[in-house]
Amino acid sequence: MAGALKLLYFLLCVCSHALTSLGNNSSTDVLALLSFKSKLSPGQSGGMLASWNMSSPYCRWPGVACGSRHPDRVVALLLSSFNLSGPISPFLGNLSFLRMLDLRDNHLVGQIPPELGRLRRLQWLNLSSNSLQGSIPAAIGGCTNLKMLEISNNMLQGEIPTEIGALKDLTGIGLQENDLSGGIPHSLTRLQSLEQLLLYENRLSGAMPSSLGNLTNLLVLALSENMISGAIPSSVGMLSSLSELILGANNLSGLIPDSLWNISSLKYISFRQNMLSGTIPPNAFRNVPLLQVLLMDTNQFHGLIPTSISNASDMAALQLATNFFSGIIPQEVGSLRSLSFLQLSNNSFHAREPKEWGFLTALANCSELRLLGLAGNKFWGILPDSVSNLSTSLTALTFEFNRLSGSIPKDIGNLINLDSLLLDRNLFTGPLPSSLVSLKNLVIFYIYGNNITGSIPLAIGNLTALSYLLLYGNAFSGAIPNTLGNLTNLSQLSLSNNYLSGPIPNAIFNIRTLSTILDLAYNDLEGSLPQEIGNLKNLIEFYAQSNKLSGEIPTRIGECQLQFMDLKSNTLHGSIPLTLSEMRSLEMIDLSINNLSGQIPKSLGNLTMLYYLNLSFNNFVGEVPDFGVFANLTAISIQGNDKLCGGIRDLNLPACSLPLSKRKHKFLVIPIAVSLVTTLVVFVLICMYIWHNKRKAKIPSTYFMQGHPLISYSQLVRATDGFSVTNLLGSGSFGSVYKGELNDQEGEGTSAVAVKVLKLQTSRALKSFASECETLRHVRHRNLVKIITICSSIDARGNDFRAIVSERACSWSGGGMHPAEIPSTESS
Ligand SMILES: *[C@@H]1O[C@H](CO)[C@@H](O)[C@H](O)[C@H]1NC(C)=O
Ligand SMILES: *[C@@H]1O[C@H](CO)[C@@H](O)[C@H](O)[C@H]1NC(C)=O
Ligand SMILES: *[C@@H]1O[C@H](CO)[C@@H](O)[C@H](O)[C@H]1NC(C)=O
Ligand SMILES: *[C@@H]1O[C@H](CO)[C@@H](O)[C@H](O)[C@H]1NC(C)=O
Ligand SMILES: *[C@@H]1O[C@H](CO)[C@@H](O)[C@H](O)[C@H]1NC(C)=O
Ligand SMILES: *[C@@H]1O[C@H](CO)[C@@H](O)[C@H](O)[C@H]1NC(C)=O
Ligand SMILES: *[C@@H]1O[C@H](CO)[C@@H](O)[C@H](O)[C@H]1NC(C)=O
Ligand SMILES: *[C@@H]1O[C@H](CO)[C@@H](O)[C@H](O)[C@H]1NC(C)=O
Ligand SMILES: *[C@@H]1O[C@H](CO)[C@@H](O)[C@H](O)[C@H]1NC(C)=O
Ligand SMILES: *[C@@H]1O[C@H](CO)[C@@H](O)[C@H](O)[C@H]1NC(C)=O
Ligand SMILES: *[C@@H]1O[C@H](CO)[C@@H](O)[C@H](O)[C@H]1NC(C)=O
Ligand SMILES: *[C@@H]1O[C@H](CO)[C@@H](O)[C@H](O)[C@H]1NC(C)=O
Repeated sequence: MAGALKLLYFLLCVCSHALTSLGNNSSTDVLALLSFKSKLSPGQSGGMLASWNMSSPYCRWPGVACGSRHPDRVVALLLSSFNLSGPISPFLGNLSFLRMLDLRDNHLVGQIPPELGRLRRLQWLNLSSNSLQGSIPAAIGGCTNLKMLEISNNMLQGEIPTEIGALKDLTGIGLQENDLSGGIPHSLTRLQSLEQLLLYENRLSGAMPSSLGNLTNLLVLALSENMISGAIPSSVGMLSSLSELILGANNLSGLIPDSLWNISSLKYISFRQNMLSGTIPPNAFRNVPLLQVLLMDTNQFHGLIPTSISNASDMAALQLATNFFSGIIPQEVGSLRSLSFLQLSNNSFHAREPKEWGFLTALANCSELRLLGLAGNKFWGILPDSVSNLSTSLTALTFEFNRLSGSIPKDIGNLINLDSLLLDRNLFTGPLPSSLVSLKNLVIFYIYGNNITGSIPLAIGNLTALSYLLLYGNAFSGAIPNTLGNLTNLSQLSLSNNYLSGPIPNAIFNIRTLSTILDLAYNDLEGSLPQEIGNLKNLIEFYAQSNKLSGEIPTRIGECQLQFMDLKSNTLHGSIPLTLSEMRSLEMIDLSINNLSGQIPKSLGNLTMLYYLNLSFNNFVGEVPDFGVFANLTAISIQGNDKLCGGIRDLNLPACSLPLSKRKHKFLVIPIAVSLVTTLVVFVLICMYIWHNKRKAKIPSTYFMQGHPLISYSQLVRATDGFSVTNLLGSGSFGSVYKGELNDQEGEGTSAVAVKVLKLQTSRALKSFASECETLRHVRHRNLVKIITICSSIDARGNDFRAIVSERACSWSGGGMHPAEIPSTESS
């Protein structure tokens, strides 16, 4: 009985205590909510949170949830994508019953209030995708029941507080895409329940702690795009549940611990873009049966692709580019039925005899193959016809920069879904196969730097998706087909260094999309330049030097916005049209070695960007202007024009109307003669240098090739502000073009780029939260510098993603012709 009384008394006490505290605490909660609302920008509190007012109980306010046992206490605040902006109120720290706080995907600014550390019941905190700054408060260690901590995609700085290591229930940490620095705290490796540790895209440094091996429940370890150095600790091999190991784009060195290849749960591995070395052990793929993605590109690996690759039967993407791998490619790759992406470019793989090409035949079994990259290896001899038997799902085939000879396989047109066919810088001969016309989706066709003969097929005009058509440096002959005018998506057309003859078809000048380069130089083209050239309003560079062009320079050329224009060594006559100086961005004009006459337009002196003007060896007469480019002796060349006068004194031309006073300067004759000789020598050196550079296009082996920093899908997302409509430059049947700003390799400054996202019909279910891109190459040849890289990856939704990243016009300054860039070693 006494016991029952005691119990009753106890219950009464508890209840009354609960009631009083309920009153106080509920007002605390409503105060906290109102404070939260009041801190937000007025526009917002009047918007999504307008109904947070006393006309309804706060537990029914949108995004607010109260408990079932404590109906007046706020247990969840779920306000993701509420378009909230402003700082987070520290009063939120008073919501002492809060279990879930979800403020992701808003425009919150300022610091994370340390008061949040008072939320001891908090289990789930998501502040991702805001604009929060400052460091992560150490007080967060007070949220002792926290299971998920996600503050990704903000602007957080400073170190990761070691106090997080005290939150022993944490299963997920997502601090990726911030600006965090310092090392990975050892304390994190005490979190036995941790399943996801996402720290990618920060500025973390130091080594990977070997105690990471203690996180035996870890499923995802993503540390990519930081500055982490040292070796990968072998203890990582103890992470026996690991599914994704993403370490790309760091400064890791040393060998891959053998034990890693024993983690049978691995599906996604990225070691790319580090300084790792060593080999892939022969049995590497025996114990990773689930492996789907292996990215090892841009490291210092060597050795063979082991035949055990066949055991990784789910493999969808194998990226080994830009290493020192060698040997023949094992036929076993053909047994990987899900293989979609095989990028082996820039290694030392070889194939010379038919049996060494067996892999190519075997790959025909990979019906999902979409990219095959074999550029920059040691593939010699005839490219087997079996290449045409590859899956029709192939969208990109790259064989450039090998030593392939013979004809291009005649059935290459079987690969009807190709959007990129790169065969440049080989030793191919013979004509282009007629089946090429079947490649209706072709966007990039590079065949430059070979020895292709015959004419450019008329049917090329049917490939209307083409954006980049680079045929230069071959032995094409005959006329330029006017069907080229049908290529209404063409951005760059280069036909230089061939044996093309006849007139330039007017149709070419109606391709209004030509926006980078039109290069017709070093052929035998004749006839005159039509007025229609004025249609090419977006063209940046026009080259037609060393042909047999006659007639006058069309006046409508002034409607273009050229930066570079070279018409040297033709038989143009007439005078320079005054409209030329309407192209305000002109940087380089070469009209030398023609029959041009008349006066030099004074207005050329008004072109402020002009740093190279060559008018030599024509029949110009009259006064040379003395301002703008004409005031700079090293920027102009005018010799070989006998009837010029005036100009700046250093030109040593006769005065236009001979005043007697000039005789005073007789004593200057010797210095002037000396400077004239110096000028001539410099000029000849410049000419030799430029001529030398241009002729290089004929000799494939001298092409300079260099790996480009890999561009990831996420970098492109950032560069284009999430492919936002405001950055959309245009779209067409091929896809869409966005402008963007890409961080430079050194992280200093940005480059203006254009990102052409190709439209892809099919999607793949290959999913990964941190998709990364493959890259092809970055070629420093003048004609090619425009394409920075080709990104082929998987986007955030797991769909195939392909984009071409090129420089944007406004950043195209100095393309290698700048006399100031002539290296001082030139004289040697
Ligand atoms: C208060 O909230 C109610 C909905 O609960 C809404 O209809 C009303 O407009 C709000 N009042 C103000 C002043 O915003
Ligand atoms: C709630 O939090 C704020 C700021 O952290 C504090 O000033 C206030 O006294 C707290 N208590 C109540 C009952 O609002
Ligand atoms: C946290 O928010 C981010 C950004 O919106 C989201 O990607 C992530 O899935 C969220 N976390 C959870 C556990 O829902
Ligand atoms: C964690 O790992 C370190 C080094 O690998 C080891 O010395 C330590 O005993 C481990 N601690 C726990 C709790 O497993
Ligand atoms: C990368 O690591 C090497 C040593 O392995 C070091 O010399 C170099 O400074 C590091 N680079 C960066 C950018 O951290
Ligand atoms: C990998 O596992 C096999 C058997 O499962 C074992 O024999 C081998 O020693 C392991 N290798 C490493 C490096 O852990
Ligand atoms: C690996 O593949 C080989 C031949 O392709 C096969 O004999 C072997 O049984 C496979 N091993 C495993 C562990 O699947
Ligand atoms: C390709 O597939 C065919 C038929 O399925 C099979 O006979 C052949 O052995 C396979 N080749 C390779 C290399 O797997
Ligand atoms: C292409 O495949 C077909 C059918 O599988 C076969 O008959 C033909 O010989 C193959 N061609 C080459 C060049 O391998
Ligand atoms: C190109 O091919 C022709 C014959 O088709 C040959 O005469 C010429 O030497 C070749 N040029 C080069 C650079 O290989
Ligand atoms: C090219 O297109 C034209 C017109 O669309 C068509 O008549 C012609 O047959 C096509 N040529 C080839 C080789 O497909
Ligand atoms: C003259 O031209 C040269 C080459 O274009 C350039 O490097 C130099 O800066 C110019 N000098 C002046 C004073 O503009």
